[in-house]
Amino acid sequence: MTTDTTGTAARDGEPRRGGPADSPFVRACRREPGPHTPVWFMRQAGRSLPEYREIRANVGMLESCRRPDLVAEITLQPVRRHGVDAAILFSDIVVPVAAAGVDLDIVPGTGPVVAEPVRTAADVERIRPIGRDDVSYVDEAVRLLVTELGDTPLIGFAGAPFTLASYLVEGGPSRTHAKTKALMYGQPELWHALCARLAEVTLSFLRVQVDAGVSAVQLFDSWAGALSEADYRRYVLPHSATVLSGLADAGVPRIHFGVGTAELLGAMGEAGADVVGVDWRTPLDVATRRIGRDRAVQGNLDPTVLLAPWSVVETEVRRIVEQGRAAPGHVFNLGHGVLPETDPEVLTRVVALVHEVSARRAEQG
Ligand code: CP3
Repeated sequence: MTTDTTGTAARDGEPRRGGPADSPFVRACRREPGPHTPVWFMRQAGRSLPEYREIRANVGMLESCRRPDLVAEITLQPVRRHGVDAAILFSDIVVPVAAAGVDLDIVPGTGPVVAEPVRTAADVERIRPIGRDDVSYVDEAVRLLVTELGDTPLIGFAGAPFTLASYLVEGGPSRTHAKTKALMYGQPELWHALCARLAEVTLSFLRVQVDAGVSAVQLFDSWAGALSEADYRRYVLPHSATVLSGLADAGVPRIHFGVGTAELLGAMGEAGADVVGVDWRTPLDVATRRIGRDRAVQGNLDPTVLLAPWSVVETEVRRIVEQGRAAPGHVFNLGHGVLPETDPEVLTRVVALVHEVSARRAEQG
């Protein structure tokens, strides 16, 4: 394993100076120049890979997240195969919530399903604060991975309070987030108590990952785009800010991501991010004007483009690399996760193309 990941870094012919903190990915997050635009993919570890489907064949999703050997192997699979510039820890946003005592499962083809959805203050109280011992398997997996990955950075992550609250209140995935919003508008005190508790759990979960050695963290607020900017600022931003500002002294870049967030990009940056994730609806030059020049951007290829002929993929990748030059730092990614039906060979070609078209000649020589 070590040989493969080391080989990946060496293939790019990059100088091996200061380890993951000096990697193209971390440099771009910090808005520092690097040898090329770094690239990784949300859900790069997952069903698009036959080696993932094989290893997961007889193991449930939550169980696989609690086995450090499996977590490490699954996390490394896309790094070996695609030569991406960063690994992302294999886990799920509901893992810390389950560790906090919430009875839930991750159902294949559906997503997280909660046995008793949150309705009352007593339900909120039952969500316990967590510490390292509650998620020791994550601590262990991160430590294993940091050793295996060498100079390739590992991204830790967690779900943001709004997106977690949506699963807990709805009891599962929802198109409208109707119950969640009804609680938010109708019982604001209960809403804020729930989000405050989730922020505490999330911050503890991210601290465990930072202490174990991750090089960056991403806060997934996948469903925040369901809110207006005013409601986002009133009901959500303070809680996400608790998480992000709680990591201000952690010394690792903080990425803040959501889908359908064109109107929220400025606010999501203000919540305390170093990098703001952008979906495919907003071109990166426009996004940069909304976010400002004191943060980097990440994104933003439409994941469905990867299902189109290569000529279409190539045109889109080139456009995004070009528009990313308007930002003070750009991490290439998709606008949301890799779809399971994606041909993994296309992902490998995208990594090579991003590196090729963004290579800085002066720094290569
Ligand atoms: O990005 C990565 O490669 C790291 C792994 C990762 C997973 N989930 C693994 C996973 C990450 C970062 C997540 C985060 C996550 N989980 C989010 C935020 C990102 C996003 O997609 O918006 C959300 C909303 C969830 C909740 C969740 N868990 C959903 C919607 C699903 C998919 C359900 C399905 O089967 O389609 C899951 C399950 C899940 N999490 C899978 C993976 C690889 C699929 C499980 C399987 O292989 O059966």
